[in-house]
Amino acid sequence: MDFDREHPRRGTASYKWDQLGALFGSEDVLPLWVADMDFPCAPEIVAATVKRAEEALYGYTIRTPEWEQSLCAWYASRHRWDIDPASVVTTPSVVTALAMAVELHTQPGDAVVLQSPVYHPFSDVIRLQERTLVDNALVIDDRGKYAMDLDGLRAHLQAGARVVLLCNPHNPGGRVWEASVLDALAGLCAEYDALVLSDEIHADIVFAPHTFCPFLPIAQQRGTRAISLLSATKTFNIPGIPSAFAIVPDGHMRQALMRRLRSMSLHMQPFFAQPAVTAAYRYGASWLDAVLAYVWDNICAAIDIVQTRAPALRCMVPEGTYLLWVDVRALGLSPDALRTFMYTRARVAFNEGSMFGHTGRGFVRINCACPRARVVQAVGQFVDALGH
Ligand SMILES: Cc1ncc(COP(=O)(O)O)c(C=O)c1O
Repeated sequence: MDFDREHPRRGTASYKWDQLGALFGSEDVLPLWVADMDFPCAPEIVAATVKRAEEALYGYTIRTPEWEQSLCAWYASRHRWDIDPASVVTTPSVVTALAMAVELHTQPGDAVVLQSPVYHPFSDVIRLQERTLVDNALVIDDRGKYAMDLDGLRAHLQAGARVVLLCNPHNPGGRVWEASVLDALAGLCAEYDALVLSDEIHADIVFAPHTFCPFLPIAQQRGTRAISLLSATKTFNIPGIPSAFAIVPDGHMRQALMRRLRSMSLHMQPFFAQPAVTAAYRYGASWLDAVLAYVWDNICAAIDIVQTRAPALRCMVPEGTYLLWVDVRALGLSPDALRTFMYTRARVAFNEGSMFGHTGRGFVRINCACPRARVVQAVGQFVDALGH
């Protein structure tokens, strides 16, 4: 596994690479934005997908026992989490299930809580369904890490909010929430009978000594209503193969989600998903471990460049995710000016932070899942441009 090797993606209809001119005004911009990796996936996934393609009869597809077994075995061995296969609902994407759960468990106008800055579709899901977005913003603690404002959350629950969106681990801040934090959140939500929708797509991308804590077992102990949203797509870099799933222990909520998926004809299995995901969970662990080690070194290289060449900027050292969240507020740039600076002066496309909520203003998010030379070049271009 040679992660240093460049695998050109231009001309592959890549979301990240094939709209540079349209989005950033130039083809000459290094893209370290949208969260997929620039590494080919594990050879076992490729082999399973090629074998599937060679069947040459791409018919309607069912969920297989092998898929269920591989998924449950993965979470049991990797995260010591026993998932009941009967509680698993397949969905094309995490955001599909998140949006449907919000739709099913709230009415237009109802308050839905998120904790910004956070993955931007959370706010889309709330606003586009005409629910009321309640931002219980994260705070930066004295260690420079995000922390939850649990007093703020209590106030929002007291005021009537009954659905809370959780990002665990947290994108963009890279926080891997500890069991004690999740337990406090679960306890509070149980008190007010609020439903927690826990997006755990980054569960597997965690750096030692941190460990991912699944929210559901904690919620079940506390009597908190909760749904967990998962996918192999982020872990194994297969987001072009729709294959997410929700864990819905409550039978009524599960039936409701399955009915809603069926009503939109989203209940069928994508043809390539079952073999690709089964192969990923069965054989992908060593590939993932190698990626995590490589990406961690990328993150350290990026942090080193920022600390030594632009000490006024502050990196939030991630505990998980392959995303580096950098506080560039010292530059005093508006979101527009920061974007212009990135795309035209530094010639890099990081994510500009205000897309994750007003609390992300003055930050950038750097996707470090690419060859190290590109991380070093892009972060170098960013800090060099500061001097011009
Ligand atoms: C927190 C989070 N949730 C969901 C997604 C996307 O998942 P999906 O494509 O399955 O909707 C991402 C992708 O970056 C993410 O970071």
